[in-house]
Amino acid sequence: MAKYIVKKSVPLRGEVEISGAKNAVLPLMAATLLNPEECVIRSVPDLKDVQVMMEILESLGASIDVTAPGEFSISSRQIKTTEAPFNLVSKMRASFLVMGPLLGREGVARIPLPGGCSIGARPIDLHLKGFRALGADIIMHEDGAFSYVEAAAGPKGLIGDRIYLDFPSVGATENIMMAAVLALGTTYIENAAEEPEIVDLANFLNKMGAKIKGAGTDTIRIEGVKSLHAVKHTVIPDRIEAGTFMLAAAITKGHVTITNVLPDHVKPIIAKLRECGVRIEEGDDYLEVMGDQGPLVSTDIKTLPYPGFPTDMQSPFMAFLTVCNGNSTVIETVFESRFMHVAQLNKMGASIETAGSRAFVKGNSRLRGCEVMATDLRAGAAMVLAGLVAEGQTEISEIYHIERGYENFIEKMRGLGADISKVES
Ligand code: UD1
Repeated sequence: MAKYIVKKSVPLRGEVEISGAKNAVLPLMAATLLNPEECVIRSVPDLKDVQVMMEILESLGASIDVTAPGEFSISSRQIKTTEAPFNLVSKMRASFLVMGPLLGREGVARIPLPGGCSIGARPIDLHLKGFRALGADIIMHEDGAFSYVEAAAGPKGLIGDRIYLDFPSVGATENIMMAAVLALGTTYIENAAEEPEIVDLANFLNKMGAKIKGAGTDTIRIEGVKSLHAVKHTVIPDRIEAGTFMLAAAITKGHVTITNVLPDHVKPIIAKLRECGVRIEEGDDYLEVMGDQGPLVSTDIKTLPYPGFPTDMQSPFMAFLTVCNGNSTVIETVFESRFMHVAQLNKMGASIETAGSRAFVKGNSRLRGCEVMATDLRAGAAMVLAGLVAEGQTEISEIYHIERGYENFIEKMRGLGADISKVES
């Protein structure tokens, strides 16, 4: 099993370039299933999750060529099967995103229930509510060790309707939006998620001939079209990767320039870091983050759907708060059990107590390196951040979680002066 070894590091300095967003590229890849013509996607990060999505698309009949570093050409001239393989879907929750495009294009789909990070129940009821509203029959099957969802549209295919999401789920908004692109008539998604990744997906779909308006607001209108055409698109920068490097600069009291970032997408992280005494200069597509301008002080955070503070930054930010002066409260409202990193941080000497969806963080902790686990993708990033300032050596296991979502993480961190390496044990 591979591990990361992180040693107490110097203040990070230099420049780091952010990769294309994992959470944008996965739905874009799924969306190519709607289109029989060539889809070129640029700025694709080299990640395990992207690899899994590639394999799923290929199993469904897509042919994929890597035409240049970070550039994929995907053609799904014909869909070979509408059944996604369990061994791949079980690795990643985002694989359920192939259901909308398959149902939209072929009128049927059979998908095992998805895997991914264990951060709460993560049901798919809102996805299914949307497909049902578009006229699909949904049957849940239990087949021995695993369950799967079977969906079938009526004889005319899916038919546009008005769908209200009880929670602005990112995945449900994306899945329903993709299903509705080729539907008959117009679909409205109300209380839709407003994340930048939704806007990127709508832009990609519109470039291939879809008629989507309102992405980035709480109501998305999708007018069904009959056919789609070839498209070229560049993935937006990864705001969560950017936030992670902003925190790496802050926690080590360093001075880092982050390029290929859209400051608008990381507004809550900029605001919260400023409250903590970090100086941040914003350019059009870069940020200069200075943690060396004075004492770091605590603040409270509460996760919310976009444009609120992102749940994916909750654990990395909590690692940072453990060393700030003063106490903080962290409230998680998006997922119901996303505090697994607390036990790991406490093992390193942090003092954090939880009660339901709240965590109370005592600041000024003197962290010390020890053996910890990446309990999920972002919790893994939190462990690395803590390791950068902990006395001695931090050994992080289960790092496959981190590699699912951060491209060249070790290389990028080392480029800024972090003492981090990967060992096979
Ligand atoms: C996406 C992101 C993930 C991020 C999350 C919230 C990708 C690939 N992943 O995940 O990194 O943490 O958004 O910003 O883009 N829910 C339901 N029923 C549903 C669907 C969701 O109750 O049918 C609930 C979930 O249990 C959760 C909340 O809604 O509590 C948010 O989930 P959702 O926005 O769907 O997250 P994902 O799309 O899975």
